[in-house]
Amino acid sequence: MLIAGNWKLFKGPHEARRFAIEIRHLPTRAAGVEIVVCPPFVSIEAAVQGLGEGSDVRVYAQNVHWELEGAFTGEVSAPMLIEVGATGTIVGHSERRQYFGETDDTVRLRAEAALEAGLHVIACVGETEAQREADQTEDVLARQVAVLPVHERLVIAYEPVWAIGTGKTATPETAQEAHAFIKSLHETRVLYGGSVKPENAKVLLAQKDVDGALVGGGCLDALSFEAICLAAAEV
Ligand code: PGA
Repeated sequence: MLIAGNWKLFKGPHEARRFAIEIRHLPTRAAGVEIVVCPPFVSIEAAVQGLGEGSDVRVYAQNVHWELEGAFTGEVSAPMLIEVGATGTIVGHSERRQYFGETDDTVRLRAEAALEAGLHVIACVGETEAQREADQTEDVLARQVAVLPVHERLVIAYEPVWAIGTGKTATPETAQEAHAFIKSLHETRVLYGGSVKPENAKVLLAQKDVDGALVGGGCLDALSFEAICLAAAEV
């Protein structure tokens, strides 16, 4: 079971360090759960320092560029992430696709570069509400999954766009159905994302093909994040 907290555009270095200190011993209480936090780039190093050497909590970035260096204003490369202590990255989050022009091709390039550099990858896929209503969910998922490499360090996060930050959660059955479909296409673990909270974590994580969660809003408060990780340990 893997629980990853996606901080999005929250928590500067100061707050990141404080939060990391609060949760650094969490893995000893949440047995069997891999715990990851994904701070904004500038807060990665502070989170790593706050966790300290002995912690099993891992720090991932929220994105990575495919080139090692060059004239790519605003981007960050895999070796730079590794240098500040990140061991993985999210790629293809729907907010990147929706607001920043991310395409299946660029998601593939980012995933490949991250894997090549030795990072772990959480690759996000998911349909919009309009696509679900038009019965295109499987087509969209198949297209997004098709570009992702099969690799032991890559997991897929199924994040229906209509459930992200909306308070609307996929029913456990809807999530299970999508996860099973993704696994029929790609040999991987599949995390669920979209309004995961302490109250709904257990029932979602109990689904056969749900191997963890990518949590946004529900991960920003240490007690809420802890409750989700502890729920995962009980499944
Ligand atoms: P949410 O975000 O939990 O706030 O819905 C999940 C995500 O975007 O990864």
